[in-house]
This record gives sequence, C-alpha cells and structure tokens, in this order.
Amino acid sequence: MSSSVVKSGITLAAIAAVCTALVAITWQLTHERIAENQQLMLERSLAPALAGLEFEGRISESMLLIPPPHELPGQDTAIVYRVFADQQPVAALFAVTARDGYAGPIRILVGISYAGEITGVQILEHRETPGLGDRIEARRSDWVYQFDGHSLGDPPLSGWALQRDGGQFDQLTGASVTPRAVIKAIRETLVYFAAHREELFTAPASEAAE
Ligand SMILES: Cc1cc2nc3c(=O)[nH]c(=O)nc-3n(C[C@H](O)[C@H](O)[C@H](O)COP(=O)(O)O)c2cc1C
Repeated sequence: MSSSVVKSGITLAAIAAVCTALVAITWQLTHERIAENQQLMLERSLAPALAGLEFEGRISESMLLIPPPHELPGQDTAIVYRVFADQQPVAALFAVTARDGYAGPIRILVGISYAGEITGVQILEHRETPGLGDRIEARRSDWVYQFDGHSLGDPPLSGWALQRDGGQFDQLTGASVTPRAVIKAIRETLVYFAAHREELFTAPASEAAE
C-alpha cells in the first residue's frame, strides 16, 4: 500500500472522528431543551380536552401506557394522562384509535372527568376526506363539541350512536362512516373508564419512550 493511500485513510478517519464528536456535543447541548419543548407542546395539545379544569403538575408526567390486548378502541398501545388536583383525581385523557374511519384510523383524545363526564374530545390525527369526514375536526365544524358534558348514563349506552342509527348524536351530511367511528370510540372509552377508573388513577406512571 502506498504511503499516500495510508495518509488519505488517516485524514478521512480523523475527519469522521471530529464529525462524530461534533454531533455528540450538539446532541448533548440540545436534547434536554428539545425534550422540554416537546413536553410543552404535548401539554398545550392536551389542555383543550380538559374544559378549563384546574389541575396541578404536568399532565404528561402522569402518562400511563396500556399495551394491547385491552378493551379500549384500537389495537395499539393506548395512552392515558391522569390529571390531579390536591392529589385527588380530576380527569383522565385517553389517546385512542378509532380503526374504522372512512380513509384510515382516526386518533382521538377523549377527556373524561373523574365523575365520568366528557370534558372534551379532540381529533388528533386522521386521513378523512376534506369537506366530508374532516368536519369532525374542531377547526372545520362544531360537531366534536356535542359530546361535552355527556356521560355513560346520559344518554344511556344505546344513545351513544348517530341519530340515524337510533342514537342521540348529530351526523355529518353525506359522511356517516367517519362520525360513526368516532362515536363508537368515545363510547368504548367511556365503558372502559367506568370499569377501570380506580386502577387507572392508582397505577404508577409509565416511563416515556425516548
Ligand atoms: C371520494 C369519496 C370520499 C369520501 N370520503 C368520506 C369520508 O371522509 N367520510 C365519510 O364518512 N364518508 C365519505 N365518503 C362517503 C361514503 O362513501 C358514504 O357515502 C357515506 O359515508 C355514507 O354516508 P351517507 O349515508 O350519509 O351518505 C366518501 C365518498 C367518496 C366517493
């Protein structure tokens, strides 16, 4: 091997080592701030489902991961954020997946007070059609607010359906698949909450994935 090839090899290795060190230093300097910002964004996105309820601490720190199999909507890991005030449970926010949307799964945040009333529903993610199914989004219509204040007994379980299916809740004209999926997911979440309320609030928080 000629000495020029060896020299080039050594130079390249030195450059690679310097680059690796720079990346490591940058990560060290920024990862805490990035994690902090991500948590603040998460807190901000959770708050609308809480209807202004007073609470203490950070919602995201009380996260509970519920891996499948479970009776919540969707077959993926469900996320529950527990909300406390004066160390008493106030509400739980469920991030769940309605799997039977028109164009794919719909990620939903369902806020339920300790007493079992809906504090708010937020559509987190969906692929429904603009002008049809996307009217479930709060910025497209008021449809998603109709659940606020309702509970498992109000209306009774059979009422947790679209009006055209014999239930109590408004449909979206020309698009019944999407709202049907969302209402079913809310109903299943309410049923789960009623059955597991105490253990939900006493379970230790899960470690957040890096
Ligand atoms: C291109 C296209 C996109 C559609 N997107 C949606 C949708 O996002 N959500 C939905 O519920 N129905 C959607 N539909 C309508 C459904 O095919 C179906 O007609 C409807 O959900 C049934 O509700 P309806 O009985 O109120 O018409 C779409 C239809 C077409 C042709």
